[in-house]
Amino acid sequence: MSTLWNSTLETGVAKIDEQHKELFRQVDTLRDRSQANRIDDTLRFLAGYVVKHFRDEELLQMQSNYPKKDAHKKLHVQFISTFRDLKKQYEAAGNKLDTILNVNKVVIGWLKDHIMVHDKEFAQYYKKYSAKK
Ligand SMILES: [Fe+2]
Repeated sequence: MSTLWNSTLETGVAKIDEQHKELFRQVDTLRDRSQANRIDDTLRFLAGYVVKHFRDEELLQMQSNYPKKDAHKKLHVQFISTFRDLKKQYEAAGNKLDTILNVNKVVIGWLKDHIMVHDKEFAQYYKKYSAKK
């Protein structure tokens, strides 16, 4: 389990929580210098997994008629663009530790803020919605 993950990040929606944990696990490998040769692979994996995870979340929001789904999707789109910029910066800088640590910091920072506010808000809604069905 990622050392950066903690239970305050849990939304209570199992599928979302599993994917969040996987994101943290993967980003965590960026902090480990001994895994330097895995960093390219990890960034590639994350680029795909982030898109998949957002798509799954957006699907749940559509299926449950979440009123804030458009605003939530906008946040995802913005993050994908931030992540792509970071990946480009990393590729341009080469395998530099400060760039790698910056990617780690920005991605984890964004995820934590996003989960704590926006995903939890959706999860509250979704749990109520599911209970009514
Ligand atoms: Fe989200």
